[in-house]
Amino acid sequence: MAALCRAAVASLCAPRTLPSALAAVRASSAGAQYQHILVGKKGEKENVGFIQLNRTKALNALCDALMRELGQALDEFENDPAVGAIVLTGSEKAFAAGADIKEMESKTFQECYAGNFLSHWNRVATAKKPVIAAVNGYALGGGCELAMMCDIIYAGDKAQFGQPEILLGTIPGAGGTQRLTRAVGKSLAMEMVLTGDRISAQEAKANGLVSKVYPASQVVDEAIRCGEKIASNSKLITAMAKEAVNGAFELTLAEGNRLEKHLFHATFSTIDRKEGMSAFVAKRKANFTDQ
Ligand code: HXC
Repeated sequence: MAALCRAAVASLCAPRTLPSALAAVRASSAGAQYQHILVGKKGEKENVGFIQLNRTKALNALCDALMRELGQALDEFENDPAVGAIVLTGSEKAFAAGADIKEMESKTFQECYAGNFLSHWNRVATAKKPVIAAVNGYALGGGCELAMMCDIIYAGDKAQFGQPEILLGTIPGAGGTQRLTRAVGKSLAMEMVLTGDRISAQEAKANGLVSKVYPASQVVDEAIRCGEKIASNSKLITAMAKEAVNGAFELTLAEGNRLEKHLFHATFSTIDRKEGMSAFVAKRKANFTDQ
């Protein structure tokens, strides 16, 4: 899939502050049409799905329509056998400044509860393929939560992470209290959630929220490079590895180790496990076929 809507193409052509990596996104009449995101494929082998949040004026505030489009784009990439990893990014000023406050302002409890408000937000966290967040600028509220739903977070050196919902009279609602606490520990998570204070990219790195910090202009390219590395391995085995690591967030140590062992044993039923080890023994590069 190398899908882009016309609006996205026009946007790409405009000499604005779009990261250089986006210049290579190709247009195609095939695939879905998106209003709030840009979607394409990246990497030398076009095996990295690329999604850029594109509500720049609203600092990529995550309106309902945008989140639905994000879900559709993920569905497309998940169904594309050529794609081995997905990069999710925003603009240089904002990865995303949170859920759309203007959309939420007049909502009632009854609407939220009966309509199961935000239930579809979890789509990123349920992706089978690895998702890498490339975060520049603000990742606040739902934006920080969206980044934390990804498997790997790379940050630009000016990025800021925060859960400022308390300042709006509410609390994080898309996993912020849970994923942030697991990532940075209780004291810092509590401080961020209770004060609304933000942390810098460097603090986020020091506290385990992000794995790498790069100059802002490089973070998207580096995330794509990481995606290419992941995509060069067996997609089948990658999904198993991801499932095993994610088990660490849900299971006891004994259960997690059991899951890992089952998945490890299962790799021995695959062609790619055989190919990987045979290639090592024969001193050649493995040719994985995702089987
Ligand atoms: C809707 C938003 C928005 C948001 C920014 N904008 N954040 N619109 N929802 N979350 C809009 C502004 O209204 C404004 O549009 C435009 O984006 C630019 O924003 P400014 O405030 O003028 O920019 P700046 O002065 O640079 O300040 C940047 C900022 C600030 C510090 C990021 O925008 C801010 O504090 N935003 C809100 C951050 C936040 O509280 N996020 C948590 C949201 S609640 P107009 O048209 O007015 O000029 C949340 C709940 C999650 O995420 C629950 C589960 C998902």
